Amino acid sequence: MNSKVVKALNEQINFELYSAYIYMSMSAYLKALNLPGFAHWMEVQTKEELAHALKIHNYLIERGGEIVFKAIKEPPQKWESPMAAFKHAYDHEQIVTSRFEEIIDLALKEKDHTTNIQMQWFLNEQIEEEANVLSIYQQLKMANNAPQVIFMLDRELAQRVFVDPNAPAANQAN
Ligand SMILES: [Fe+2]
Ligand SMILES: [Fe+2]
Repeated sequence: MNSKVVKALNEQINFELYSAYIYMSMSAYLKALNLPGFAHWMEVQTKEELAHALKIHNYLIERGGEIVFKAIKEPPQKWESPMAAFKHAYDHEQIVTSRFEEIIDLALKEKDHTTNIQMQWFLNEQIEEEANVLSIYQQLKMANNAPQVIFMLDRELAQRVFVDPNAPAANQAN
């Protein structure tokens, strides 16, 4: 594999783990506020990010790329409000999207078409990732901290189910 592409993919594995760390931290923060549904939603988000890291990791191994583990950055541990946490999550997902765009640019430049195809899956996944957090952020913004709305939303977010993108059935669907 092209060494620049391998480096970029290793950096993305690290960034997905950092994303998982941020959402796990948000989950703890929301749990401490007695919002178990919000905390659960962030726990599912954490699992998704770990699955993304694993998916890139497995791809690199399959292609014979060297895996290099680096330290994961410390996440923030407090936010001003649940709304601020979801705003942060939305900003973060936009950064993730631009990172995949850059990896695809690099893959095309280095004529690594297989990596381009693999990364298209992630770029596509980002549409939903951004839309999900944006929708919750906007609802929290509209609620303007009204407790009834927060409690209703907490019950709704408790319903989120984790679908493992690395499970055989999920792979067939893609
Ligand atoms: Fe991710
Ligand atoms: Fe994400």
